[in-house]
Amino acid sequence: MKPATQSHVDQPAAHLRLVSDRAAGEASGIKLSGVSKTYRSRDGDVPSLRPLDFHINQGEFFVVVGPSGCGKSTLLKMISGLLPPTSGEILVEGEPVTKPHGNVGIVFQHALLLPWRNILSNVMLPIDMKKLPREKYLPRAKELLKLVGLEGFEKKLPWQLSGGMQQRASICRALVHDPKIMLMDEPFGALDAMTRERMNVELMRIQRETGKTVLLITHSIPEAVFLADRVLVMTERPGAIAAIYDVPLPRPRSLDAMSDPVFTELVQRIRKHFFTQGSLD
Ligand SMILES: Nc1ncnc2c1ncn2[C@@H]1O[C@H](COP(=O)(O)OP(=O)(O)OP(=O)(O)O)[C@@H](O)[C@H]1O
Ligand SMILES: [Mg+2]
Repeated sequence: MKPATQSHVDQPAAHLRLVSDRAAGEASGIKLSGVSKTYRSRDGDVPSLRPLDFHINQGEFFVVVGPSGCGKSTLLKMISGLLPPTSGEILVEGEPVTKPHGNVGIVFQHALLLPWRNILSNVMLPIDMKKLPREKYLPRAKELLKLVGLEGFEKKLPWQLSGGMQQRASICRALVHDPKIMLMDEPFGALDAMTRERMNVELMRIQRETGKTVLLITHSIPEAVFLADRVLVMTERPGAIAAIYDVPLPRPRSLDAMSDPVFTELVQRIRKHFFTQGSLD
């Protein structure tokens, strides 16, 4: 497969090498072939994504960064089966995506909790929708709420929680049915810096212990490098792949990894893309 292009930045150091997609079986992970999106509206067409080709390996932590409006949420909605691509094909676990996939957990950019359900019922929503045994999953839902610091808020309604607390509840909702694949659109955007770091570490632990495939979108370059096995950098709208970087930091990672020279250098290298695009985060 052809390597990602990187025409507008310097050549990376050997340990920050730019990688092409790894050769991997098409029957696992997430595979995009020529996937593009143009929104049709009365005011005219809005080209949002140029044709994209990449493969996310099973069990990989894959992070996407890109300027606002470049099509990141569009990409995630198409992979989740909520939005059809204008062209191309998406395979999840070898199956073409035509509708939402049962083995996928989604965290949207906005929490989207149901206002009439309390927090615990919101977290249990996927269980109710899939008609899974409530008694089996209720302890897990409570455990997840505890994990994200929402113990004692189970009976509250969404409006009684702050934006960051609602977003944490929506992360629990995405994890409750133990999906194999997690699609997360800026899941930590509404959190304070300390909670955000704690959630980063927790998500990495969950991903490592369960072997989930994670696709996470973020505006934070340090967060991307800290979490990812690979970081995909997007161009401005209509979004295309500017580069895909391997993150050669060993796992398990603690917050100390952020002071590793490899970390710092990779963050700077990715930041350069946005300097040259004139859209620094
Ligand atoms: N339903 C829609 N109809 C028309 N255009 C849309 C629609 N949704 C998104 N767009 C356009 O597509 C482009 C990409 O939108 P998208 O929400 O995917 O961006 P994003 O990268 O997630 O941005 P942000 O970082 O701000 O969340 C934007 O320019 C937006 O105006
Ligand atoms: Mg978005």
